[in-house]
Amino acid sequence: MGAPAPSSPNAWDPLRALARLDPEVHEALTEEWRREEEGLELIASENHVGPAVLAATGSLLTNKYAEGYPGARYYGGCGPADRVETLARDRARALFGGEHVNVQPHSGTQANMGALMAIAEPGETILSLDLAHGGHLSHGHPKNFAGRTYKIVHYGVSRVSETIDMAEVRRLAREGKPRVILAGASAYPRRLDFGAFAEIATEVGARLMVDMAHIAGLVAAGVHESPVPVSDVVTFTTHKTLRGPRGGAVLCRADIGKKLDSAVFPGIQGGPLMHVIAAKAVAFLEAAGEPFRRYQAAVVRNAAVLAAALAERGHRIVSGGTDTHLFLLDLRPAGMSGREAEDALGAIGITVNKNLIPFDERSPRETSGLRLGTPALTTRGMGEGEMAEIAGLIDGRLRARDDEAVRRDLGEKVRDLCRRFPIYAGYGAALGRAGKDAS
Ligand SMILES: Cc1ncc(COP(=O)(O)O)c(C=O)c1O
Repeated sequence: MGAPAPSSPNAWDPLRALARLDPEVHEALTEEWRREEEGLELIASENHVGPAVLAATGSLLTNKYAEGYPGARYYGGCGPADRVETLARDRARALFGGEHVNVQPHSGTQANMGALMAIAEPGETILSLDLAHGGHLSHGHPKNFAGRTYKIVHYGVSRVSETIDMAEVRRLAREGKPRVILAGASAYPRRLDFGAFAEIATEVGARLMVDMAHIAGLVAAGVHESPVPVSDVVTFTTHKTLRGPRGGAVLCRADIGKKLDSAVFPGIQGGPLMHVIAAKAVAFLEAAGEPFRRYQAAVVRNAAVLAAALAERGHRIVSGGTDTHLFLLDLRPAGMSGREAEDALGAIGITVNKNLIPFDERSPRETSGLRLGTPALTTRGMGEGEMAEIAGLIDGRLRARDDEAVRRDLGEKVRDLCRRFPIYAGYGAALGRAGKDAS
């Protein structure tokens, strides 16, 4: 006798099946649900995806091998896979422009790896933003593929304005004659001047690559200038401001398309994650609508309001504020490290990440700063009034880190605030029912 079918077609209840088969993972999932629901998520690179994205990510397209690209696969049965990948590609190009797109990278790092492989040879020079000034590991950290494959030269921010010093970018580009100038950041709160980067790239004969991972949602909604018209290659993640599944994608000029596709597969990846690509298609569709445009405008407004409210309470904001979805808090005047502040806020249900600030004298494990972002808070419907409230909670906790009564009181206030803005109420109820039935 063969193994039983995975489920009866008339009783589709994956959460109950999970709770029965694996109570431990079910319990961890329930914990994560509670953490998201009852806590304030201020990690700038995170978001709460909608139910349609979640459904596609958890779909049976996870079963399918589809090495290759639509119309040219190495496996049979790829009709539906071709359909979702074509939808994702068409929607990405409609959303961002760009002559060619690859939606297969499993992550932002792999999008960058594929893009760099397509436009630079090992040993050539890449000019990118210093990690300590807001850049990303995949832009050339010595332990990352980029740092090990290419010669890396970094530009940084000015000590005075704490914004990218375009005169320094030009000087380093003229001196180093890079093959690629890479613009884009993980912890940079200001607008990036893609036109100025393009001008410098043209002047020195470099290719311009932009990693818009953090701001892809802002760009899709038109609240940040798009790098696509002036860049050779643009990479992005789909899971940050764009509010899609965890993954990456690359847009490029038509003449780079073939090289890019072959760099992604078979260069660095095997079979694409078709369930994730389906969810990317859904996210691109969502991002093309008017509600998404309003959402992104609110994300940027909320970040500005939260930063200003913290500044009013005496905190120092790096570069004096923000133009985007995130900002950096300099904790040196408050006399604590980023790690201490992250722990203190975590203890009242506010999730943030410690972050280096420009010219930081502490290590990346300790840091002198926090990075705060508003995409997730805004997704759950919070607005300017709540940002003022949250500034009060953060300030209160940072000022009374050792006071247990204050900790309890602020923790309760965080939970009260969260209860007013539920995210996945139905999902939590379904998890609870499944757990009860299985026990
Ligand atoms: C600018 C930038 N590029 C790339 C990445 C990498 O994305 P992933 O974590 O999906 O590899 C990140 C992630 O934080 C990022 O901020």
